[in-house]
Amino acid sequence: MMKTAICPGSFDPVTMGHLDIINRSRRVFDHTIVAVLVNPEKHTLFSVQERIGMLKRCTADMDDVEVVGFEGLLADYARQRGVTAIVKGLRALSDFEYEFQMALTNKRLNPNLETIFLTTNAENMFLSSSIVKQIANFGGDISQFVPVCILEDILARIREGGKGNE
Ligand code: PNS
Repeated sequence: MMKTAICPGSFDPVTMGHLDIINRSRRVFDHTIVAVLVNPEKHTLFSVQERIGMLKRCTADMDDVEVVGFEGLLADYARQRGVTAIVKGLRALSDFEYEFQMALTNKRLNPNLETIFLTTNAENMFLSSSIVKQIANFGGDISQFVPVCILEDILARIREGGKGNE
């Protein structure tokens, strides 16, 4: 039987940390669904379609990776897709409480669903989409933090004023 995992997130924008988790999910699962949360209430730098497009470019050479948008509860989306594993990266201790809460909630909502935490690569311990946006906003060099194929998208958006879909 083909084993599939969902890697959910906002990916605003995708970072080297996300890409590392996606690649490590690929080592364990036959198919990885990268699922971008559609949340019109949340202010983001990139629209859902832009984020999906950027993720697709970064994973273009990965036949076992699918990029989708999802609305509503992750537990329901997993059920719809017949998927029983969520893969997430766990960074510093600060991630733990929220991730633990989400994992337990998802388990209640869908008892067939397991959340698998991959310990983040030490290099990416401090990395997050918000940190990347902050550095870029202040003119810092983000080239080592994001996949090269989306670097220009971020710089262009910042040049436009970085307002995103506000
Ligand atoms: O990259 P993020 O913003 O940390 O990802 C958070 C995400 C998308 C995984 C989480 O917000 C989510 O699963 N949202 C869908 C709504 C949901 O299922 N909520 C209940 C889980 S506690």
